[in-house]
Amino acid sequence: MNHTRFSRIVAGVMGWGSWGKRLDTGEMAARIRGCCEIGVTTFDHADIYGDHSTEAAFGAALQASSIARSSIQLISKCGIKLPGAQVRTKHYDYGHASICDAVDRSLQNLGTDYLDLLLLHRPSPLLDPEIVAAAVGELLRAGRIRAFGVSNFTPSGIALLRPLLDVDVNQIECSLLHCEPMFDGTLDVHLQQRMVTMAWAPLGGLFGSTDARAVRTRHAVDELARKYACAPEQLVLAWLCQHPARIIPVVGTTELDRMRLAHAAATMRLDTEDWFALLEASRGHPVA
Ligand SMILES: NC(=O)c1ccc[n+]([C@@H]2O[C@H](COP(=O)([O-])OP(=O)(O)OC[C@H]3O[C@@H](n4cnc5c(N)ncnc54)[C@H](OP(=O)(O)O)[C@@H]3O)[C@@H](O)[C@H]2O)c1
Repeated sequence: MNHTRFSRIVAGVMGWGSWGKRLDTGEMAARIRGCCEIGVTTFDHADIYGDHSTEAAFGAALQASSIARSSIQLISKCGIKLPGAQVRTKHYDYGHASICDAVDRSLQNLGTDYLDLLLLHRPSPLLDPEIVAAAVGELLRAGRIRAFGVSNFTPSGIALLRPLLDVDVNQIECSLLHCEPMFDGTLDVHLQQRMVTMAWAPLGGLFGSTDARAVRTRHAVDELARKYACAPEQLVLAWLCQHPARIIPVVGTTELDRMRLAHAAATMRLDTEDWFALLEASRGHPVA
């Protein structure tokens, strides 16, 4: 899949609404315009964000922003069923109707007639690849989604789907503090299959955590940030972007100044030795 279908940094919208900063329509519209000015044109949603309220809030803001639909890319995810009036037990549902109905609702809420990318939010032991392939195939043929991917899937979960449909993207947790995908074969498979890797929580909670690993890593980050004359969070994102999988960070900030820094971080280049110094600080030991 071509990475250029998405911006180099994706804006994660999970915290824009009632699960986070509770931005009103005008504030969201200003964030959408601001992101586009910076060059961050891809927005990451899920049907459940804000207990199913954030897509509609964003849709209203998009309309108010006067930004053309064709100049942005919208991602959404489906499959998680949160407890509520209709649901007693949190679960995943990848039945045909569940997938197609979720896309219908996302399109309606976002005020658009297509998603640039649909992701299955989490792997499920009950996922039947044939049923998923039939539903996704219909959505692709109808033009309601333009690409398909998964989120939080292992290489074997992806291999299950691959014979039946193109899996263009895997959105996974990946950061300096959560670098296992670089070592457990996940990113190797993405690279080999030419899949796009998107990384959620790309800062890894580094700036809020007081645990020993985070404090140790933060110390190394602060020291090198002085060398590169950049903000500490830029160094953390630059570290991620330097991986040959061309990882696309899904950045959750609601602050445009931080989004600007994130965008600039994607083109930074760290010395190889500094890259490994950060890895060592995170893992607490040198490479073998
Ligand atoms: N696929 C999945 O399963 C999955 C799971 C979780 C998330 N996601 C997606 O990934 C996106 C990003 O996730 P995330 O929000 O965890 O990622 P993140 O970008 O690592 O973290 C963003 C959070 O860190 C704060 N922050 C940023 N810079 C900071 C700094 N220098 N000091 C202190 N705090 C700072 C932000 O607050 P401010 O707003 O104040 O800057 C925001 O609350 C979500 O919006 C969602 O779209 C996907």
